[in-house]
Amino acid sequence: MEHGQTLYEAIGGDATLRRLVDAFYPIVKQNPVIGPLFPEDVRPVMEKQRRFLTQFLGGPPLYSELYGHPMMRARHLPFPITRESADAWLDCMRQALEAIGMEPSLRKLVLERLSGPAYHFVNR
Ligand code: HEM
Repeated sequence: MEHGQTLYEAIGGDATLRRLVDAFYPIVKQNPVIGPLFPEDVRPVMEKQRRFLTQFLGGPPLYSELYGHPMMRARHLPFPITRESADAWLDCMRQALEAIGMEPSLRKLVLERLSGPAYHFVNR
């Protein structure tokens, strides 16, 4: 990563996040632990996630522009999330990052950045 660059810029910005989200949700839907939590039509969730990850990784605030403060833990409260669910979510993300061919050092940074929130969302 170059000095002063955001992780969003380092991974290739919008084009990369679109590919990542497109790769991630089919993997999530196949996952026996967390797949059943998601709706049949996952496209609205994909769009929200693309917007959220954009701002979370240091890009423009695309999520908050439409939905206000992320309050992500609160937004996940209706869904039962255990430690096992967080492990499963992160494993799906690891597979998606690999599938789109992201460089291993950046892959590791992205996963590290996401693991805090994932375990923070555990609510059961
Ligand atoms: C810990 C395991 C996780 C599980 C089981 C999980 C599951 C879910 C589910 C079931 C939804 C709602 C789908 C719907 O609208 O019906 C959702 C929404 C969402 N999740 Fe997660 N999630 C997890 C972790 C994360 C993480 C780590 C992030 C990002 C840091 C994230 C970002 C989002 C976003 C942006 C939405 C859309 C929120 C909205 O409705 O505006 N999730 N998640």
